[in-house]
Amino acid sequence: MIDKYAVFGNPIAHSKSPLIHGLFARETSQTMEYDAILAPVDEFASSLNQFWKANGKGANITVPFKEQAFDLCDELSEQARLAGAVNTLTLLSDGSLRGDNTDGLGLVKDLKRHIGELSGLSVLLIGAGGAARGSALPLLQSGIGKLTIVNRTQSKAERLVECFKGYGDVCALPIEHTDKSYDIVINSTSSSLSGELPGISGSVIHGGTVCYDMMYGKEPTPFNVWAKEQGAKLTLDGLGMLVGQAAESFSIWRKVKPSVEPVLEALRSKL
Ligand code: ATR
Repeated sequence: MIDKYAVFGNPIAHSKSPLIHGLFARETSQTMEYDAILAPVDEFASSLNQFWKANGKGANITVPFKEQAFDLCDELSEQARLAGAVNTLTLLSDGSLRGDNTDGLGLVKDLKRHIGELSGLSVLLIGAGGAARGSALPLLQSGIGKLTIVNRTQSKAERLVECFKGYGDVCALPIEHTDKSYDIVINSTSSSLSGELPGISGSVIHGGTVCYDMMYGKEPTPFNVWAKEQGAKLTLDGLGMLVGQAAESFSIWRKVKPSVEPVLEALRSKL
């Protein structure tokens, strides 16, 4: 029987994962299937079990199931453990379940693809929700200089710093006290979804700053439009992170690294 993979979420109809993994499989000549599965909100575990019984080998997990997936794992990568969420499940040969979180590595690889090594760079991470939590460890392990976290609700930024302070140079600041500029400014908040800005001073951006919005769309996101107006050198959106996290999942499962660029171009042209 053919090896099966799928993305589980609710909603799931607009997921780009089947297209991305289909293109990866074609490029790397892997014989596999990849579907999108709409799991009922209160029946995630049972739909996952059905999938394993039907020759499922691995799954991507998206909203709202990443924390439930975390709870179901027998074994977790350090990154998944610290993220508190799992976006990649692998059914191991002994029947146990391993959880990874590839979102943050997808972000770091996308940044490196555009600007090269991140060594010594100062990074401002805006937001302290799930997306920020999933990115902190890969950022700290990428060789950056200092990671500063700010959030509308400052106590959440401070809690994140508590979790990650053993892994590198990381601090929290009140969002209104960000008067210094940074080499990289990352928006992990969901503010772009409602067409809003995350409420940060333009002084965080200097002429050499690279800005990254984890959101993406056909048009530049509100954050990236604002960042350009503030004089950012380069603005990037989260489509590269999406393809990057998929590439990491794919290589965990199939032990082969797919190329990100052609898939990114295909996706961008379909937005
Ligand atoms: P995700 O999993 O996408 O990170 P989340 O865990 O709900 O989603 O976190 C959303 C993040 O976006 C939080 O940091 C939130 O700030 P609060 O902790 O203060 O709620 C932030 N956020 C959402 N809308 C925002 C807005 N309009 N302005 C600033 N921050 C916003």
